[in-house]
Amino acid sequence: MSTPTIDDTATPHSAALDAAESGAVELVTITLRIRRFNPEEHPDAVWVDYQLTVDPKERVLDAINKVKWEQDGTLTYRRSCAHGVCGSDAMRINGKNRLACKTLIKDVNPEKPITIEPIKGLTVLKDLVVDMDPFFQAYRDVMPFLITTGNAPTRERIQSEEDVKRFEDTTKCILCAACTTSCPVFWNDGQYFGPAAIVNAHRFIFDSRDEGAEQRLEILNDREGVWRCRTTFNCTDACPRGIEVTKAIQEVKRALVTRRY
Ligand code: SF4
Ligand code: FES
Repeated sequence: MSTPTIDDTATPHSAALDAAESGAVELVTITLRIRRFNPEEHPDAVWVDYQLTVDPKERVLDAINKVKWEQDGTLTYRRSCAHGVCGSDAMRINGKNRLACKTLIKDVNPEKPITIEPIKGLTVLKDLVVDMDPFFQAYRDVMPFLITTGNAPTRERIQSEEDVKRFEDTTKCILCAACTTSCPVFWNDGQYFGPAAIVNAHRFIFDSRDEGAEQRLEILNDREGVWRCRTTFNCTDACPRGIEVTKAIQEVKRALVTRRY
């Protein structure tokens, strides 16, 4: 497949150029090799190379923005906060799921073309944008909210520090889908709930204030539930929040066997 190249090295970003001229940074020329797909124009995806001049301490998201704003405004991708909070810019960078806004250019071997692709296992709609509906449906299916019975208390529900520690790690999830879309089981079976849904079930199953654990465990006992996990640890490696995803899945499996949580 042909790899067209667009050269923008003659017009570096002015802020970066200003900094370079003041001697503060050393700019480098990089190639972003982006997987482009527009079903209205062509049924197949193609790789397109973009050359640009950047400060290697900038993020990959800055470089992608630069391509969109200065070279090709049709490039389509999701991003919002640019600070690792919203979870919208998960993508495959050099073959690994990462948040573009949390990945520095200098850390992804900028001497070689940096490949940028959509996350795997979800239908690509355009360029780097995938259909997140199945991902969020699995999330909704595990009932990611506090379930209680009886009258609402007149004061806050007290928890010990130990109680909080049981589920604190999984509260950090930002629903970026990096874990689920790095999972080979999910690639082969899009019906599998996937690590992110299980992480968010874990967050409530092990919360001492919640009374919906049995319901959630039954949902995850399904043939597309936790037992599909093959413990490959891809999910843990991919998580930009450092959540011990595989451990959380193992804890849910154990809770299903022991009914202790
Ligand atoms: S567990 Fe980590 S990788 Fe998975 S969706 Fe949450 S933040 Fe993203
Ligand atoms: S843009 Fe929000 S997490 Fe990267």
